[in-house]
Amino acid sequence: MNIKIAPSILSADFSRMGEAIKLCEDSGADLIHCDVMDGSFVEPITFGGQMVKNIRPLTKLPLDCHLMIEHPKTQIKFFADAGADIITVHYKACKRISDSYLEETLRLIKDMGVKCGAVVNPDVPVEAIFPVFPLCDMVLLMSVFPGYGGQKFIPEVLEKIKKAREYAILSGRPDMDIEVDGGVTEQNVQTIKAAGANVIVAGSAFFRSSNPAATVAALKR
Ligand code: DX5
Ligand code: ZN
Repeated sequence: MNIKIAPSILSADFSRMGEAIKLCEDSGADLIHCDVMDGSFVEPITFGGQMVKNIRPLTKLPLDCHLMIEHPKTQIKFFADAGADIITVHYKACKRISDSYLEETLRLIKDMGVKCGAVVNPDVPVEAIFPVFPLCDMVLLMSVFPGYGGQKFIPEVLEKIKKAREYAILSGRPDMDIEVDGGVTEQNVQTIKAAGANVIVAGSAFFRSSNPAATVAALKR
């Protein structure tokens, strides 16, 4: 399984974002994870499509845009135009609107030529997104409740990662990207990968590291 490391710029200094992007590249990261928060689906507000647009020319790394927002459909165009490579949307934010909203949003993302993914919070069973697996390029399992970096990994999510990998295999897509986001450290990453995750988000583990390149290598190993 190809392991990919995605530093989350949520943990970067927003006043020096250019340097943060360069650090991700120089450290051997595979993706840049962009945490978009709206102050409603989650408490904090981070940034919108404009940030992605400004980062885009600075890197060739894929921009993995994690939308923690209500009404995600209304924002897809901005992130697609800004140069997002993958856009993930939350099951809960979609379900609140209608039963078909998640599927509609995923299709909209794909129609704009961008890869798409569905996200489940720690308290949502992974089975909730099984119906949209065929549409998803990636699925994202939150291992903390979204909103803040630096939280503790919720170990119950390991079982969900296993179920997601089993279902991907069963669906004939053994290599499907399964991303885990929240509380990943050099200490717990091996169990997370062993459970079946292959895309690893690292916010504080990366940006608080004294040697980010060594951290990326350690997370990959
Ligand atoms: C949490 C965000 C995560 C966060 C991860 O709402 O979606 O991407 O930045 O940060 P760490 O790795 O510090 O838990
Ligand atoms: Zn995230």
